[in-house]
Amino acid sequence: MGRTSQGVKTMPPTILVVFGVTGDLSHRYLLPALNQIAKVGKLPAEFSLVGVSRRQIKAGGLLQSSEKDLQKYLKTFTMNLSDLEDYQRLGDYLESVESKMSKKPQIIFYFAVPPPAVLPIVRLLGKAGLNKSHTKLLLEKPFGVDWASAYELISQTDRYFEEDQVYRIDHYLAKEMVQNIVVFLGSNALFRNVWDQRFISDIEINVAEAIGIEGRAGFYEPTGALRDIVQSHLLQLTALTLMEPCSSVFEFRELPMRRLAALKALAPAMAAPIIRGQYRGYRQEVKNPGSLTETFVSMTVASSDPRWKGVPIRLTTGKCLSEKLTEIRVRFKKSDESWANLLVLRVQPREGIDLDLWVKQPGFENKLQKLPLRFAYEHHFDRLPEAYERVLVDAIRSDHSLFASNDEVLASWKILEPIFEHWNFDTKDLRLYKPGSTIDEVINQAV
Ligand code: BG6
Repeated sequence: MGRTSQGVKTMPPTILVVFGVTGDLSHRYLLPALNQIAKVGKLPAEFSLVGVSRRQIKAGGLLQSSEKDLQKYLKTFTMNLSDLEDYQRLGDYLESVESKMSKKPQIIFYFAVPPPAVLPIVRLLGKAGLNKSHTKLLLEKPFGVDWASAYELISQTDRYFEEDQVYRIDHYLAKEMVQNIVVFLGSNALFRNVWDQRFISDIEINVAEAIGIEGRAGFYEPTGALRDIVQSHLLQLTALTLMEPCSSVFEFRELPMRRLAALKALAPAMAAPIIRGQYRGYRQEVKNPGSLTETFVSMTVASSDPRWKGVPIRLTTGKCLSEKLTEIRVRFKKSDESWANLLVLRVQPREGIDLDLWVKQPGFENKLQKLPLRFAYEHHFDRLPEAYERVLVDAIRSDHSLFASNDEVLASWKILEPIFEHWNFDTKDLRLYKPGSTIDEVINQAV
């Protein structure tokens, strides 16, 4: 860490090398995001995109018709990703691209490859001498499958690259409304001053998806919802909600340390129920009639930080649910004199903030009604950048604030360890739910 971020105007000359450029991740997220950055003129003045693939491909064939802003930057390079000599060839090729730039560019290696392919590529980059100080790695989750494997992955990467050179993506951290949690809690005295166990009774964080596994059986079947979403996105949302508030946006560089402190204080509340579910039809989709992989999980965590003593935090995620919805629901305590208020931070869709207020219904009777006070981004801003746009810009300008540090990755695996020990991976604790169910329907389903 330690490097401070630069404005987009001073973005350094950059070569972005994409391993797995023909894959799903690259098509769905990376290329559209890069195209958008190009379209709004925020790419470095000197920029090259090198798409690496096994098969020979034409640069033009990689881009969709809507991605024409990227065309002039794109080159392709064909190589066998397990052959050391090919990495040396790649090194020579990159030197030839570098020589056309006015000063030495940074080289960012982005890994759009399946998780088991990552470490071998990192090692070969190191062995081929492509790990010089002007290089960076941009890595996708999952980082391991448990604490021990994550530790191994990190130590092996550390043999060739400094931590400063490694950017571990958790794209939820880069979502606009997620960044706004930090600002909202830090900069609004009204909330900052009541943000603790004295005033808050409980918190629910939900990441619901309407889609299923989208043909990713090979990845999902050994992974499941706990590893796919809870370990990363849900625990990071929890950390941002509970961490010591920042006083202004300018403290973003403190974020990894503050999130880490919040993560270290978290543990699962093992006395609360842990619900695992699987949507009906999943087993046919992955062609494994006996699959016990969970596509839904709901569990409670608690923080040992005195600020959060006694506040349960329920984390829930699931696929094939009734709608796509990510939100943080914070319930304020009611008192003898007043009712409870609910604050909802809506991460997606319809990004914004809702606060339920109690109002008097107009009329002659003194009746109360709960109504929302609403801030919606769409009423004030034209377009929110996609998370991957921010991820790429931040990696280019060396800003680690919205990436997960090694310590954060390890701390979040540590939180889940008691659950791995506790779960009986058998049919008894797995509830089968109907696609299109709501979170509450799965949680309240009779077992
Ligand atoms: C990814 C998970 O990290 O996040 C996917 O691997 C999930 O399973 C995706 O679908 C959800 O991201 P978003 O941005 O669409 O909410």
